[in-house]
Amino acid sequence: MPKNKFYITTPIYYVNDVPHIGHAYTTIAADVLARYHRSLGDDVFFLTGTDEHGAKIAEAASKAKKSPKEFVDGLVPKFQSTWEKLNISNDEFFRTTNPEHEKIVQEIITKLAKNGYIEKRQYEGLYCVGCEKYLTEGDLEGGKCPDHKKEPVKQSEENYFLLLGKIAEDKKLYEKIKSDEILVRPISRKNEVLSKIKSGLEDVSISRENVEWGIKYPGDDSQTIYVWVDALINYFSATKIYKKGPGWPATIHLMAKDILWFHAVIWPAVLLGIGEEPPKQVFAHGFFTINGQKMSKSVGNVIDPVTMADKYGADAVRYALLREFPFGEDGDISEEKIANRYNYELANGLGNILQRTLSMISRYEVKIDKTPKQKAQMLEYAEKALDELHFEQALSLIWDRIRVLNEVIEQQKPWELAKFDVNKLSELLNDLHKELANISDVIYPFMPSTAEKMKGQLKTLKPEPLFPRIEK
Ligand code: MSP
Repeated sequence: MPKNKFYITTPIYYVNDVPHIGHAYTTIAADVLARYHRSLGDDVFFLTGTDEHGAKIAEAASKAKKSPKEFVDGLVPKFQSTWEKLNISNDEFFRTTNPEHEKIVQEIITKLAKNGYIEKRQYEGLYCVGCEKYLTEGDLEGGKCPDHKKEPVKQSEENYFLLLGKIAEDKKLYEKIKSDEILVRPISRKNEVLSKIKSGLEDVSISRENVEWGIKYPGDDSQTIYVWVDALINYFSATKIYKKGPGWPATIHLMAKDILWFHAVIWPAVLLGIGEEPPKQVFAHGFFTINGQKMSKSVGNVIDPVTMADKYGADAVRYALLREFPFGEDGDISEEKIANRYNYELANGLGNILQRTLSMISRYEVKIDKTPKQKAQMLEYAEKALDELHFEQALSLIWDRIRVLNEVIEQQKPWELAKFDVNKLSELLNDLHKELANISDVIYPFMPSTAEKMKGQLKTLKPEPLFPRIEK
């Protein structure tokens, strides 16, 4: 059977952020899809990384009395170790300071200019360093940037502009999104993007005069390339630099709704402007709040995924985040929610049924035949749900099945069967054994180490707690 290509990305995160539960959410979701597609035999390439240029990073570096490069080199390991801790199976880790990437970005800009899609213009506007972008009067609240609570500074500079409107028209960008040639999902987001395109596309400034920490603009040393353009191109550069995986185009770019416009409109325009294929799908999930509040360092409610993984294990964090609310919607998370899911659904749900089954097999000395059984329909549906990125639904279905199996034990009372119907007892425990083997297959993309542990125990028939009690 021919392998399907599956090239999946997360955003590259700002290297000077501390990786938090929001970053973890996207990265875990991408990892589940990558593992799922590998298990189908697809040709998978899974990319994440860090976004390392721009004024904000240069500013932080100078505060830390370091050169920008030294500074970012010191920050990258925190991201890498966080993803290791969460068992993220990315094939490569992209850094925008990679010299090969810098060359590719310059080549793309040169091509865009050659194709008539770049123009130099005088620009004046209100610039927010926090956002690394110009804001309009309409964006401001009380004269300040609503996100950074700071007044933007009036800046005037000569910039190169990407002629977004022209590319969109020449290359039929609206039609490509409308017809799902570029699949923008969820559908409500697609409609938002379409109506925003319809209301008129403004050209985008793609260079900066006063930002030194960036990729030099080709043929003009007074300018550097705008971080966002540099960052988006990572997805394409990676296919040239690493020489592995299915190559361009990306099958799916995953991110939260905050940066959908860049991925669904600006990025495809850049690609179409140089004659490359746009990504096949752009999927924007929702935003997390913490106990109902926006996550922020100043509020002090940031949840550290590493602390959570230390306490509950990576698999529990992966499970709890994806189970909490449907992918694509907004939702809320808290440590309490993670702890509850750990206790009720993982320890008492999955862990319990495995232990119970294995201890009965050993207590009643039942012989286990390890031939596989066809998956229950609920589990088949759970796998199908992953094709549509319905993580929460997939997990609900698997846990419904676990509940059904627990009910079967309660109804059939193996401890009674042991007294008067050993054949039926053996049949029941063999069946449960096979069901648990199937469950271990289906949960593998979500909870890889739990799945491995289950498989090991089902082989040796020795029960050990999957989710031990947590000390308070
Ligand atoms: N560097 C840019 C992305 C460039 S991609 C070519 C950037 N970085 S970021 O560090 O701010 O990461 C933004 C992404 O982090 C979001 O799109 C989302 O994937 C994730 N999240 C950050 N906060 C989040 C929540 N509160 N909830 C869910 N996801 C969140 O933007």
